[in-house]
Amino acid sequence: MNKINYPLGHLADEINRLESQADLFDDPLLAEFALVSKDCLEIGAGVGSTWRRLQKINPGLCYTGIDCSSEAVMKARSLHANTNVNFEIMDATHLSFNDHSFDLVVSKLVLWSIGRDWPKAIEES
Ligand SMILES: C[S@@+](CC[C@H](N)C(=O)[O-])C[C@H]1O[C@@H](n2cnc3c(N)ncnc32)[C@H](O)[C@@H]1O
Repeated sequence: MNKINYPLGHLADEINRLESQADLFDDPLLAEFALVSKDCLEIGAGVGSTWRRLQKINPGLCYTGIDCSSEAVMKARSLHANTNVNFEIMDATHLSFNDHSFDLVVSKLVLWSIGRDWPKAIEES
């Protein structure tokens, strides 16, 4: 798949930047939803920096992160290998999950990089 190569790459500096960004963009509303959710899907999960925050809020949350970049997914899997998560290579505009598989769907800083197809990603969500 890998339709888009994430332009900033996934070297250590960029991973650290994404993690700091996740801290800066911490969202109290997301924390409230995460606390009462069971199954969460993140669209465009990158290297999993949102999951790092979500698991602190709700360690029992079943989380699946999808990203079209195989490089990002491989990195996310290696960074979070010891946690109960699932990172998959998938295009946000063609999700392969059954409807109602998740009670929380999260996406952050992704629509801009999907481009013209962004409404399809919203529809899939
Ligand atoms: C700026 S990064 C944000 C990553 C993460 N949400 C975060 O906040 O750290 C945008 C991510 O969207 C992913 N992406 C872009 N188009 C996508 C698509 N059509 N389907 C799935 N992921 C996509 C990119 O590969 C990249 O990992």
